[in-house]
Parts: sequence; C-alpha cells; structure tokens
Amino acid sequence: MSAHLALQAPFFEGAGEQEEARRAFARDLVAALDARPRRISPKYFYDAAGSRLFDRICTLPEYYPTRTEAGILRERAGEIARHIGPGAEIVEFGAGSLHKVRWLLDALQAPRGYLPIDISGEHLAEAARQLREERPGLSVHPVVADYTQPFALPQPAPGARRVGFFPGSTLGNFDEAEAFSFLSRAAQLLRGGGLLLGVDLVKDPAVLHAAYNDSQGVTAAFNRNLLVRANTELGCDFDIDGFAHAAFYNAPLQRIEMHLQSLRAQTVHLGGVAWRFEEGETLHTENSHKFSVEGLRALALRAGFGIGPVWTDADRLFSVHWLPAAQ
Ligand code: AVJ
Repeated sequence: MSAHLALQAPFFEGAGEQEEARRAFARDLVAALDARPRRISPKYFYDAAGSRLFDRICTLPEYYPTRTEAGILRERAGEIARHIGPGAEIVEFGAGSLHKVRWLLDALQAPRGYLPIDISGEHLAEAARQLREERPGLSVHPVVADYTQPFALPQPAPGARRVGFFPGSTLGNFDEAEAFSFLSRAAQLLRGGGLLLGVDLVKDPAVLHAAYNDSQGVTAAFNRNLLVRANTELGCDFDIDGFAHAAFYNAPLQRIEMHLQSLRAQTVHLGGVAWRFEEGETLHTENSHKFSVEGLRALALRAGFGIGPVWTDADRLFSVHWLPAAQ
C-alpha cells in the first residue's frame, strides 16, 4: 500500500501543476473571449507541441532572428564574455530548448551555474537533462516559472554574480509598460551583474512580413496551436480551419501583430458557454515589437540598467545589448 502511494505521489504532483496551468489558460481564454478586441497572451502558444513548432520556426529560411542572433553570439562571444567577466551565474529568461546559451557557456570564464527559466516544464526538463549530459561540470538548475510574473530564484552561489540572458527578442512580446516592469525587476534581480539582451531591430516591413508568413505554414500552425490546445485541454470546439493565420507589420506601433481571424460567423463553446465570432473578427494572439538601438537603450536606462556595448550583424537585422546592473 505505501509503496503504491510512493509510486503515485509524483504523478499527482505533476497532475496538480498541470491542472493549475489548465485553469489559468481557461480563465485567460474566457477573459479574452469576453473582451473587445479579443486578445490573449502569447505565452499560451508554448505547450509541448507549440514549443516544437517554435523550434521549427527558428530554422525557417524566412525567420532571420534566431540565425542572425546566433551568428552575433558566435562571432562576438569572446568580446561578450570579457564584458560579463568571470564567475557568472547565468539566469536565462524563457530558456526554451537551451540552444543559444551554449555559445555563451563556451566563451565564459568559469561560469558558476546556469538557471534556465521556462514556462514549459516538460520541454525544459528534457533540455536540461541533455545539457547536463553534455557538461557534467556545470551546475544546471531549471526553474519552471512564468517570468512575466514576479517569481523567486534559489539563492545565488556564494560570491557569484548574476547575469541575465534574454535572447530571441522575446522582450518584444511585451507592451511598453510590461517591458519596463520586466526590465525593472530584472535590474534588481541582477544587481552587481547585468543583462545580455537580444532584440530584433526595426527594418524593411517586407522582410518582417515574410518572417511571420513563412511559405511552409509553420508560423500559421504555431498560431493555430492555441486553438488546438483549447480544444484538447479545455474541451472547446474551435473549428481550427475556420480561423486564418493573420500576421502584419503595424508600422506606427513598430510591431508585428499576429491574429486568428474567423473566416465566417461561428460560435465556439467553453465550459458550456457560447461565444460568437463574426466573419473577419479576430483573436489577437501576439505582438512582436521591433526596436531601434536608441529606443531600447532609453528604456533600459529608465528601468535602472547602465548602457554597455551593442553588437549587431552587418545588415543590422538584430541587436545584442550588454546592460550592466550596478551593485
Ligand atoms: C519568441 C516572441 C521572439 O516574436 O518573433 C515567431 C515568436 N511568433 N513567429 C517572435 C514568434 C511568430 C517570437 N518570439
């Protein structure tokens, strides 16, 4: 009997977390369906299937950010590592598949540890297991958390300097107030260290448009995965093919917007309640803000960071900033 309970315990723990995540998704989807315009956080893209789709996006010919940022990190790793200094404990926000941190870990002098934070626990655990296997000397502490909300971290190793790593222009998912509050919290968390931040730059709208409307339809599947999730996790009845992937550059607001656009008048159900979509009505699923170097620096300064060097590619598609955080 007790052996049986011991075997069951981890299962129930995991199920509890999953159940909590499911309820949060249900709550936010109800709020989104009630609102006008309808809008939901892009964090709900990233279940296991969504994380896999995002990994595929990163390899698409049209999606330049991942490749370009990786090139900058690879080519400038030595220089970046000199600015970061020795004994850094790296905290990665939204770590995903842990691909990018490898360049940094290779270049850093005596890194003290690595704390990848991600909302997708399953995906993170698997990636952390792989990284530990590759680098038995490195202490890896995955943290399953939603870094858009205040969260706790384990105590830093004695004498370690905490250095944040926030690549991939995920900062661009926030609106300006959210970006400011995230950066303000990060500046506190990283005092005595700093933040290595990758952000996508403002550019020719045609290049941006192609990056979010790829010819293989992977971005469309990523967008629609939100509805797939709602159907499987919440028992909704979204007609997946009844919603089009709509992504466009909103120039005055300097951002790509992604929407799911209803192709006809239709009704969907969640928890026994019916919601109507008019033809053409959208659920706004993501903003991906683009930055100028000066704009990003002004925001970082306001949030309490100092200004360090910025590295860009030759075509100025993408930027990597070192933002020191004073003690
Ligand atoms: C992970 C938020 C940086 O905005 O480019 C990719 C997500 N959405 N294609 C981005 C995304 C559609 C990506 N970020």
